[in-house]
Amino acid sequence: MEKGIFVTGSGTGVGKTVIAGAIAAAIKAHGLDVGVMKPVASGAKEIDGKLVSEDAVYLKKIIESDDDDDLVAPVRLKPPIAPTMAASTTGVSIDIGKVWKAYKELTNRHDFVVVEGIGGLMVPIDDTLFVADMAREMDLPLVIVSSDYLGTINHTLLTVEYARSRNLRIKGIVINMLKSSDGFVREIEKYSSVPILWTIPYIENICVEKCAHGDIVEYFCGGINISKIMRKEG
Ligand SMILES: Nc1ncnc2c1ncn2[C@@H]1O[C@H](COP(=O)(O)OP(=O)(O)OP(=O)(O)O)[C@@H](O)[C@H]1O
Ligand SMILES: [Mg+2]
Repeated sequence: MEKGIFVTGSGTGVGKTVIAGAIAAAIKAHGLDVGVMKPVASGAKEIDGKLVSEDAVYLKKIIESDDDDDLVAPVRLKPPIAPTMAASTTGVSIDIGKVWKAYKELTNRHDFVVVEGIGGLMVPIDDTLFVADMAREMDLPLVIVSSDYLGTINHTLLTVEYARSRNLRIKGIVINMLKSSDGFVREIEKYSSVPILWTIPYIENICVEKCAHGDIVEYFCGGINISKIMRKEG
């Protein structure tokens, strides 16, 4: 079995948190002890003098995790911009050692860890590391989340090509918030030769900011074959 999965996306706002949360909850429903992680979170909100990551709060809540925030989101930055810029704007440096340490602890604690990436694969984390390098260092296969917007074919194919060039394993692509026509999904599948794991419709009452997950867990547990991403092939 895989030790976890790294959920990346064709870009920001495509539904990485929503899909990562649903995957984690579905794996938990399978009887496994699951952990979640958002290694670097920008746009953190200051609450009672502490920086809080909305993505981490959502991910923790959906699986009822009681792991400490410093493990789930070890690096939290306030400005809602790319991590390197958020760090330089606030005069802090990103301590990547914290990320590796927290990840190690989470993999020791849990059977399976679902890690949500930051933006897309080529987001810089510091002068030496892109998000893709983080997935490699963690030795996790990718799930690529993409959604229904003009430009998604290009962004998704570029993500697949870059992942391949970095020798990252790709479990498959999830098309999120599918509207009516799925013609573009077939194009992505045809030109990437990567399996489309699932297409997920727009589901009412999902809001990461309000920590509301609607009935996406029921949706995933009902008709989704999660073992595809848990199984280690080859
Ligand atoms: N299937 C869905 N149905 C309804 N709303 C959704 C769905 N997926 C995502 N959303 C909404 O779309 C918005 C973006 O989703 P999400 O926060 O998961 O994206 P993200 O890729 O994690 O973004 P970021 O790059 O900021 O981490 C959120 O407000 C979320 O509630
Ligand atoms: Mg997110």
